[in-house]
Amino acid sequence: MTEPLSTRRLRTDTPDACVAAVAEAAALLRAGELVAFPTETVYGLGADATNATAVARIFAAKERPFSDPLIVHIAAQDDLPRVARDIPPVAWELARRFWPGPLTLVLPRSDAIPSIVAAGGNTIGVRLPAHPVAQALIRAAGVPLAAPSANRFMRASPTTADHVLTDLDGRIAAILDAGPCTVGVESSVLDLTSAPPRLLRPGGVTLERLRELLPATLGPAERPAISAGVALSPGQMDRHYAPRTRLVVYDATGEAGAAAVRVGARRAVAAAMRVGALVTDVEAAQLVSLGVVVERLGPSASPAEQTRRLYAALRALDTQGCDLLLAHSFEREGLGLALWDRLRRAAGGRLTPPESE
Ligand code: TXA
Ligand code: MG
Repeated sequence: MTEPLSTRRLRTDTPDACVAAVAEAAALLRAGELVAFPTETVYGLGADATNATAVARIFAAKERPFSDPLIVHIAAQDDLPRVARDIPPVAWELARRFWPGPLTLVLPRSDAIPSIVAAGGNTIGVRLPAHPVAQALIRAAGVPLAAPSANRFMRASPTTADHVLTDLDGRIAAILDAGPCTVGVESSVLDLTSAPPRLLRPGGVTLERLRELLPATLGPAERPAISAGVALSPGQMDRHYAPRTRLVVYDATGEAGAAAVRVGARRAVAAAMRVGALVTDVEAAQLVSLGVVVERLGPSASPAEQTRRLYAALRALDTQGCDLLLAHSFEREGLGLALWDRLRRAAGGRLTPPESE
C-alpha cells in the first residue's frame, strides 16, 4: 500500500526561493518521484526519463493509457544524442532556429530511453523548453525529463499551478509554481521520421514558420480523417482536452462565428438552459446581456493572447454549472491552426454547422 502523498507547492518568486525549490525538486526527481514544472507552453508532469519505474508513475498519476507516448525534455542541444539517434541534419537546423521553444521533434529513439516513454515505439518526441525554471530543473536533475502535460487524462492542459493541483493534488510529490504559462497551448509536434515531415500537432511554432525551412511539411489538415479509424501516430486522439460540460464549437470564424454563437446562445437561453460562451472580447458584451456566462479570450486581433487564455477559460467555464458551452472556430493559419485543433478536440473531434437565424 502506498501512502497518500501530500503535494508540496514549491515557490519560485524570489531568486533564493527559486534556487532552493529547483534543488529540492531535482532531488525528488532523482529519487524517482514525480514533479510538475512550468514550461512556456503548459505545465509538465516530470519524471527521470531514464527510469522506467518513475515514468510508469506518470501514467498512473494521470490515468493515461500506456499507448500515448511522452515528450522528453532536455536543457541543451548537445543533449539531443542522449535521447535520439540517427539525427538528420535538418533536426539540428530546426533546433538552432526554434530551440529553446515550443517545438517537439520526433526522431528515432536512443536505447538510453526506456521504451515505456515512447509507448513501446522506436521513436521519441524531444524538446528543449524555453522556460528558465524548466531549464534549471533539467540541469539540476542531471537527466532528461519525460513530461506530458500535468493534467488528468482527457482534461484541459494546465497553464497555472492551481490547474495542476486541481487534477493531481495528492498524486505527485511536488509542483514548482512559477505563475501562468505564456504560450498556453502545447508544443508543435513535428515528425521527422516520415518523408515528407508531418506536423502531428499544431502548437506554439506555426506551420508557416516550419515550412520556411521544410517547405514540404504536411499539416494536420492534409492527413486522413482520424475519426475514420485509421491508426496514425500514437496519441492523436480526436477527443481530448475535453470539458465535462457539453461543448459545441461552430464551424465558422470571425463575424460569422460570432453570429453563430449569438444565435445558438439565444436558442439555448430561450430553452431555459444555462449557457456559457468562450469568445473574443468584442463578442462578449451582447452575450452578457442575454444572460450568458462569458469567458473572454482577449482581443480578436491577438491570437497569442487567445492561445494563452484558452485552457484557463475552458476550465473556468466548466466550473460554472452550465448546461451547454458555445464557441466558434478560428482561421487555420498561424496560431489559429492550434486554436482550431484544440477547440475541435475539446468538442469531441467535430465542428457543428451554424444554425440560421
Ligand atoms: O508543450 C508541450 O509539448 C507539453 C510540455 C509539458 O512540454 N507537453 C505535452 O505533452 O503536451 P503531452 O504528453 O500532453 O503530449 C504529447 C503528445 C502525445 O500525445 C503525442 O501526440 C505526441 O506528443 N508524441 C509524443 N511522442 C511521440 C512520438 N514518439 N511519436 C508521435 N507522437 C508523439
Ligand atoms: Mg497532454
